[in-house]
Amino acid sequence: MKEQLAKIRAEALASFQEAKAAADLDTLRVRYLGKKGELTAVLKQMGKLSAEERPVMGQLANDVRAALENALEDCSRRLEAAALELRLKAETLDVTIPGKAVSLGHQHPMYIALDEIKDIFIGMGFEVLDGPEVELAVYNFDKLNAEEGHPSRDWSDTFYFDNESRVMLRSQTSPMQVRAMETRSLPIRVIAPGRVYRKDEVDATHSPMFHQVEGLVIDKGVTMADLKGTLNTVVEQLYGKGTKTRFRPHHFPFTEPSCEMDMQCHKCGGAGCSTCKGEGWIELLGAGMVHPRVLEMAGIDSEVYSGWAFGLGLERTALKRFKIADLRLIFENDVRFLEQF
Ligand code: PHE
Repeated sequence: MKEQLAKIRAEALASFQEAKAAADLDTLRVRYLGKKGELTAVLKQMGKLSAEERPVMGQLANDVRAALENALEDCSRRLEAAALELRLKAETLDVTIPGKAVSLGHQHPMYIALDEIKDIFIGMGFEVLDGPEVELAVYNFDKLNAEEGHPSRDWSDTFYFDNESRVMLRSQTSPMQVRAMETRSLPIRVIAPGRVYRKDEVDATHSPMFHQVEGLVIDKGVTMADLKGTLNTVVEQLYGKGTKTRFRPHHFPFTEPSCEMDMQCHKCGGAGCSTCKGEGWIELLGAGMVHPRVLEMAGIDSEVYSGWAFGLGLERTALKRFKIADLRLIFENDVRFLEQF
């Protein structure tokens, strides 16, 4: 039995040294020290020994067990250290390797145009307002003097949320006129850019979602001359000094008188070309003097105060500003297009 124990000890210690991984050590632990292991098998024969031999062998077996356990402990520590060493080597950071270039995004052309517009108006003392895209029909229509039955309220043009046509996606930024009048103290000078929605099919000039910039000024003694002067200044700052505008009569329920403003084609100077479709002029926005009824509905005395308002299509402005031919390019977000700005 003594020889058996010595043999186990020698073999086990040698095999521990050869183990390459923690899993190998586990297998060896089971083989030598486990319940069905070699050492246990020897111990089971203890019963056959004489009373004198038994404690001696017992002591010897315990020594072997202790030696194997110690050796296992050492080997496991050695393997752990080696694994750590390997990992550290693998994870070494080579700070001399050139980095990967980070590609930075930039502003969308339409927002570049919007920022230019905001800058111009802020420079003239306007405040920039933000408002809800899900709007009450009361604000989108009623308080703008477009009562029940007005053609623009039709279901075929407007995205309503309810059968009673009370809640809708705003079809214009003009409800912000009313919201400004209800929340600001006079005088008022605001612009309100944002998304608007109409039931239009997508083509080169239409989209069911587009952006407008609303403008509103209310003060004592405000006239159409202020409207023309302000808008002329804006157009000159956007498109260059000397850019001509013209005002054509038009109709909106919430302005009286109403007009549309065109800009002389910046490409052909008014001679007529493909950009202005031979007209020499490009339509830019709708505008007018705020209807007295709209002022009164918002609680403003129309005998004392007057105002003007405009609404311009932002996509259209960006298309003109950057000479882009198709509205769809603005929304497709193809980076090959966007990177050109
Ligand atoms: N809301 C009008 C439209 O969408 C534009 C407009 C705004 C006209 C303000 C006059 C005054 O067509």
